[in-house]
Amino acid sequence: MIPARARRPTREVRAARRARRVSGLVVSLVAVGALARAAGVPPQHDYVLHCSGCHRADGRGVPDAVPSLVGVDRFLRVSAGRPYLVRAPGVAQAPLADERLARLLNWVVVNFGTSRVSPAYTAHEVGLWRRRPLRDPTSLRERLLSQTEVAGARRPPPTGDGGPVPRSRP
Ligand code: HEC
Repeated sequence: MIPARARRPTREVRAARRARRVSGLVVSLVAVGALARAAGVPPQHDYVLHCSGCHRADGRGVPDAVPSLVGVDRFLRVSAGRPYLVRAPGVAQAPLADERLARLLNWVVVNFGTSRVSPAYTAHEVGLWRRRPLRDPTSLRERLLSQTEVAGARRPPPTGDGGPVPRSRP
């Protein structure tokens, strides 16, 4: 007969079991994290977490302090506006990987603008621009805004008889 004391697991055995349980937990947490990444965090969650503190939940910003994002797609009318939207400090410095930031930015433009980004921002493009900080965002912003106004004025009305004539395909 085995004495009761011998059947009780030794301290080493208990420690090993504990370690197995802990590493099992770590493995499942990593798996959950990977699943969440694969499924993708919805961009609106990232917006709430990283942007809405300044730009507000409805994107309207704070008068004289934080610009409204409503109609932000106007920057895309001019070529220098495309990198600007990535290089704006709140965007470039967001604690998000390039891929997630690209998705967020595409969502911001569609959600608060009247058109989508075409072509959509990619992780690669976002990665390139965000690593080139703007020296003077305020004056660049002013310059771009006056350029977009000029571009907007030159643009034919989007609908109605005066609209662009669709080019026939060959
Ligand atoms: C600390 C406040 C703050 C946070 C946080 C912030 N922004 Fe901004 N954002 C600004 C300000 C101020 C500007 C105007 C440019 C400048 O002076 O930096 C701006 C400019 C922008 C622009 C360019 C449009 C324009 O009108 O100039 C976009 C797009 C933008 N932000 C999106 C975002 C997104 C997306 C996030 C979240 C990842 C974010 N911002 C986080 C304050 C903020």
